[in-house]
Amino acid sequence: MTAPSSTPLGLADNYGRVATDLRVSLTDRCNLRCTYCMPEEGLDWLAKPELLTDDEIVRLVSIAVTHLGVDEIRFTGGEPLLRRGLVGIVARTTQLQPRPQVSLTTNGIGLSRQAEALREAGLDRVNVSLDTIRRDTFQELTRRDRLQDVLDGLAAAHKAGLAPVKVNAVLMRGMNDDQAPDLLQFCLDHDYELRFIEQMPLDAQHGWSRDTMITADEILERLADRFDLQPTDAASRGSAPAESFTVRGGPATVGIIASVTRPFCGDCDRVRLTADGQVRDCLFARTESDLRTALRAGADDEDLADRWRRAMRGKLPGHGIADPAFLQPARPMSAIGG
Ligand code: 5AD
Ligand code: SF4
Repeated sequence: MTAPSSTPLGLADNYGRVATDLRVSLTDRCNLRCTYCMPEEGLDWLAKPELLTDDEIVRLVSIAVTHLGVDEIRFTGGEPLLRRGLVGIVARTTQLQPRPQVSLTTNGIGLSRQAEALREAGLDRVNVSLDTIRRDTFQELTRRDRLQDVLDGLAAAHKAGLAPVKVNAVLMRGMNDDQAPDLLQFCLDHDYELRFIEQMPLDAQHGWSRDTMITADEILERLADRFDLQPTDAASRGSAPAESFTVRGGPATVGIIASVTRPFCGDCDRVRLTADGQVRDCLFARTESDLRTALRAGADDEDLADRWRRAMRGKLPGHGIADPAFLQPARPMSAIGG
């Protein structure tokens, strides 16, 4: 008997992990220029013919759900609200069987206009990036004066019932690291669930340095100045990267995603698809597997599913940021998606 050429079911890797959470980047473009992500100018965009069409995206997402056991889809960017077909893509994704959970990671600009339509299309949840509630800091950090748009987007998402509305924040030393308690108070007041993410070496300009990043321990210290935080049951973390803390006895919580100082690679259940149709088995992967060429050459669903399974086998056990030989991936965060 010959061994089967591929795992029959899901997206398993050689370390026993199975990816069930697919992050799909819909565009590498963005209307902000966050300093931890993009240079002020001079970043080339993917050319239009390279981008998957709406139909191609839905086809690949559908294969992931119906052939590969993916049960959670997150649309990301760049900024996914810039993709014209977003509402349609979401609507078609939420119609798949078995119905996946569908969420969106966005910077919130323009969300006030689209939240209701996205909810009607079946979107379950949003994560909105917001690093400060001070207009001057927002402008310094994102290089755009758009704080009010983001706040309006958050309010609209909450009103539309995209619950829980989560807020992602990155702290940058000397810029907004003194504002963590203010941001938490703002989120408590508005019923948003805040998570701090340690800054990762994924910026296009390669400016990250371990010595200047704000660690999870420092974030906790800064919050403890004003809040009583208690760790929630660690057992409930599962594959969720955020360590969760109750605030002042609960029920509100705050999360810390310590990707750098307390990596969670061993529990990773993620896989990524870029806007140009490349499978990435890790945020930090330095290789990708091309599905677009086969897709456009007329490959059938089984063939594409098989290529996708094979793409996962080489997933490394960890990101290796702590290794002196660590090399940042060529593709920046804005072209991978969070
Ligand atoms: N490190 C940590 N988080 C980042 N994000 C973007 N770039 C980085 C980085 N280098 C965040 C965004 C967004 C989420 C997708 O990831 O702020 O909330
Ligand atoms: Fe845009 Fe997100 Fe990058 Fe900021 S972090 S520039 S919002 S893609």
